Amino acid sequence: YCPKARKCGSGRCNNAIQLTNPKVVDTIDVEDITDKAVFCRCWKSKNWPYCDGSHAAHNKETGDNLGPVIVKKPQ
Ligand code: FES
Repeated sequence: YCPKARKCGSGRCNNAIQLTNPKVVDTIDVEDITDKAVFCRCWKSKNWPYCDGSHAAHNKETGDNLGPVIVKKPQ
């Protein structure tokens, strides 16, 4: 893990998820979302592709401002 990835030039965002996979793609059927789904955008979640709150520690450590995307179903 390189917390200064942008500065050290690696350009890598993902340092943990499916590293042997050449491209991480997740497909979620909207019919499987009951109320809302919260998806990770920081690549730190242990419950990928869903947010587990790990972005908070990342933000605290790095000064970043990452957060999830929330998909809500109409009521
Ligand atoms: Fe990655 Fe929340 S854990 S956005």
